[in-house]
Amino acid sequence: MTSVTCTAPVNIAVIKYWGKRDTQLILPTNDSLSVTLSQDILHSKTSISANKEYAHDRLWLNGKEEDITKNKRMHNCFRETRALRRRMEDEDSSLVPLSTYPLHVCSENNFPTAAGLASSASGLAALVFTLAKLFNLPNSMTDLSRIARQGSGSACRSLFGGFVAWEMGSEADGSDSRAVQIAPDTHWPELEALVCVVSDAKKGTSSTSGMQQTIESSPLMKERLQIVPGRMEAMKKAILNKDFQAFAELTMRDSNQFHSVCLDTFPPIFYLNDTSRGIIQLIHEYNAANGGVYKAAYTYDAGPNAVIYASKEDMKEIIQLIAHYFPPSEEKKSTYFTDPYNVLQ
Ligand code: DP6
Repeated sequence: MTSVTCTAPVNIAVIKYWGKRDTQLILPTNDSLSVTLSQDILHSKTSISANKEYAHDRLWLNGKEEDITKNKRMHNCFRETRALRRRMEDEDSSLVPLSTYPLHVCSENNFPTAAGLASSASGLAALVFTLAKLFNLPNSMTDLSRIARQGSGSACRSLFGGFVAWEMGSEADGSDSRAVQIAPDTHWPELEALVCVVSDAKKGTSSTSGMQQTIESSPLMKERLQIVPGRMEAMKKAILNKDFQAFAELTMRDSNQFHSVCLDTFPPIFYLNDTSRGIIQLIHEYNAANGGVYKAAYTYDAGPNAVIYASKEDMKEIIQLIAHYFPPSEEKKSTYFTDPYNVLQ
């Protein structure tokens, strides 16, 4: 039996992916860009063993067995990595024929799943990375990102640390739709993220179905698709220049626009709750009180949890401010922590 365990981090988009032009291959309607969080607190951990004695492929998610035959996206990742392994075995007959062995996959997250904290991104990235290690694939991270993308779009960005773009590409077969690193995490060490889990409840509308509802029914989405290319260029520039003013404004505007197209979807999709909106207002008031100089920026994925970006220097004050107005509560299971980890409320 051969067995491998790996972890993959969570990424938080600052230019959001929302909408597919091909739902089978998971090809997006726009480029996106994210910041990968460190693996200290949030990660998915996957163990895979290959054994010719196993009867068939099996999967356990957070300790519970799932029906793997119903998981088409995971199947895509198995198929693609097995095909690459098979090619190696065809060229070198001394290799163990792992591509033909059934696999047992055990995956767990150390954070609430489906609460808008990109659990599918780290989960599918961990799956593809672990399969690549198990099969000893020589492929680059960008090659693997094309496979992880077919598990969950945002997963392709979790294969890299630091600042990562997912280039939408234009080929019909998805060969140029892949993730690339814009800058490593060491590039901007003063930048910190504060994760505010305001609710660990499972979200009502999944990203997968929500984004297709938006594509089908939101006139505002067409406008967004004209705006994103310019924003991508401006965001890359802001990151490379470590320009927090530009980074903060683009991040907040893109989060707001994403939630606007959700509201413009018919019937509308609501991901933010009163606490999320309260935090947005608080961050704007805090920035205004600093003479309009951006000290903090918020962003929200498909859920009510906030991620706040700020410099290490200002973060202490920002945590105190948020914890004062929106104290973490046992009842709502809310928790706040910074990334890199240094304060836990
Ligand atoms: C709001 O990657 O979860 O987090 O490709 O259908 O699996 P699928 O969707 P998913 O969507 C993530 C949407 C988002 C924005 C982002 O991460 O860019």
